[in-house]
Amino acid sequence: MADMRCDTILHGDALSVLRKLPSRSVQCCVTSPPYYAQRDYGTAVWVGGKASCSHVIMDAERTPWACEVPGPNGRRKNVAAGHWRPKYVGGHCVNCGAIRQDAQLGLEAAPAAYVDRMVAIFEEVQRVLTDDGTLWLNLGDSYAGAGYSNHKGTGGTRRDEGGKQRHTNGTGYQNKQLFGVPWLVAFALQADGWWLRSDVVWHKHGAMPDPTRDRPMKAHEYVFLFAKRARYYCDESVIRSLNTVWTIPPQQCSEHSATMPEALAGRCILAGSRPGDLVLDPFFGAGTTGVVARRHNRHYLGIELNAAYIALAEERIAAEIQPVLWSIA
Ligand SMILES: C[S@@+](CC[C@H](N)C(=O)[O-])C[C@H]1O[C@@H](n2cnc3c(N)ncnc32)[C@H](O)[C@@H]1O
Repeated sequence: MADMRCDTILHGDALSVLRKLPSRSVQCCVTSPPYYAQRDYGTAVWVGGKASCSHVIMDAERTPWACEVPGPNGRRKNVAAGHWRPKYVGGHCVNCGAIRQDAQLGLEAAPAAYVDRMVAIFEEVQRVLTDDGTLWLNLGDSYAGAGYSNHKGTGGTRRDEGGKQRHTNGTGYQNKQLFGVPWLVAFALQADGWWLRSDVVWHKHGAMPDPTRDRPMKAHEYVFLFAKRARYYCDESVIRSLNTVWTIPPQQCSEHSATMPEALAGRCILAGSRPGDLVLDPFFGAGTTGVVARRHNRHYLGIELNAAYIALAEERIAAEIQPVLWSIA
């Protein structure tokens, strides 16, 4: 296993990699996992079938939502509205029978399955945290039948007990229902032994308006503070300066569609660790946690499933530490 004091990014599925990490080796975890049914991070591989086949899954659908395709350098690029995307659950190529396999989180058939995976992953995070360690978990919500819902149309129409016609989508929720995933996860982690200490509302100042007309426009996500034990390390002077509504503009990175704002990661890292501590992000993406950790003289340990994002994160972190190297030379 890599030297835990070094700044390291490990390639693979968060749960499998976490299982190999030593217990009580990390002070703080700051992370933003894939949200339920929102986007595809392009990590699927095809197994079996014909190598020459370009693979087609049934029921491709046109979507106005974010989708990632390979860019010119092999990296994933976010593409605009109107892209055709395939459904993915149980996906097999209708032409050659190849099976689509993906360890990606967030594409489960129903929220309950997503919550179960989150509990298993964060059980391992809890093990690798020091006994006074904390978890800062950024999560957003989603709606049945919207976003990256592969379930659209899979259920069709049915009549409920009162004889009313209902449109179903395979998630167990009717279309338009807010899943409430952040709180489902928060309560599940609490039931699994975590100390739920705070819910922070991240007010996404200046966020792109969503197109819906029959509910208030969504402009927030959550950051949950969990502790491994009732008593835990936090920098009192930092944590007392935070209120529980954080107004921070979203921050986009051109080659990754869902990066955390550096200001958000910074608050969590400064409150939850000391200089020299190791900060974990099991969904490292473009490496915001690593960039901000190095900026504040912490070490980072990242895990990421998509190798292209690891290269991107390494570039961003190198750019962050470059000025320091120059000033030393
Ligand atoms: C919301 S993004 C994280 C972005 C990151 N916080 C940043 O600022 O760059 C979630 C990331 O989790 C990765 N991912 C999805 N499933 C994963 C899994 N099972 N194990 C590890 N990483 C996974 C995706 O490829 C994606 O980059």
